[in-house]
Amino acid sequence: MRRPFIAGNWKMNTTRAEASALAEAIAAAGPGAGADVAVCVPFPHLADVERALQHSRVRLGAQDVYWEESGAFTGEVSVPMLADYCSLVVIGHSERRQYFGETDETVLRKLKAVLASSLDPIVCIGESLEQRKANQTGEVLARQVANGLAGVDLSERITVAYEPIWAIGTGETATPEIAQETCAFVRAELKKHAGDAADAIRIQYGGSVNADNARELLSQPDIDGALVGGASLKAAQFLQIVEAAKP
Ligand code: 13P
Repeated sequence: MRRPFIAGNWKMNTTRAEASALAEAIAAAGPGAGADVAVCVPFPHLADVERALQHSRVRLGAQDVYWEESGAFTGEVSVPMLADYCSLVVIGHSERRQYFGETDETVLRKLKAVLASSLDPIVCIGESLEQRKANQTGEVLARQVANGLAGVDLSERITVAYEPIWAIGTGETATPEIAQETCAFVRAELKKHAGDAADAIRIQYGGSVNADNARELLSQPDIDGALVGGASLKAAQFLQIVEAAKP
């Protein structure tokens, strides 16, 4: 039985004060009884949010990481640096792929560095609208799984987030049927590499998840949680999504 996992991805939002207030509001509600809960925050807010969450069950994550441990890599943040603050990190988000040159190859390098540490990864995959329209969704996801997760020991430490790019920030959610069908396809691809271990890997859906559509999406058998962008910036909305995840 896979425990539901709801993670907020705050992206490049919140001032220092807003970040603390949001984390405090989430922690105050005491979520985490029926589902794992996490927030993935901008780097500069990690220390403040860590403090705000310290007596809660809400896990803290970052939104990206570099694979080298230290050195002359201006602007980058390493796995050991993050491990001092948090326990999770998002890798390969479509916005990193789209705007910052992330590829399956860099995803794999990051994933290997993360798995060698105490951090747990959330690895993002997903197809564009053009690819879906051209019936290439399966091919794209299979390639992202094969290349981005190649040769790593696939265990329950890894969460895979299926985020169709056309549904991110657009208000256009995949229907529960499409989301379920695609997450089931992703699990079948994971099985090709991990065998039955893939049954323990949690697959989140991401893309315009909100308090209104969460319950139906989260009730699908192959959707084990959500990676939530916009709706994770309002404590009340985010907490309603967490509630909707409880079995
Ligand atoms: P939205 O929930 O804002 O569509 O963002 C989804 C996402 O990209 C989460 O990582």
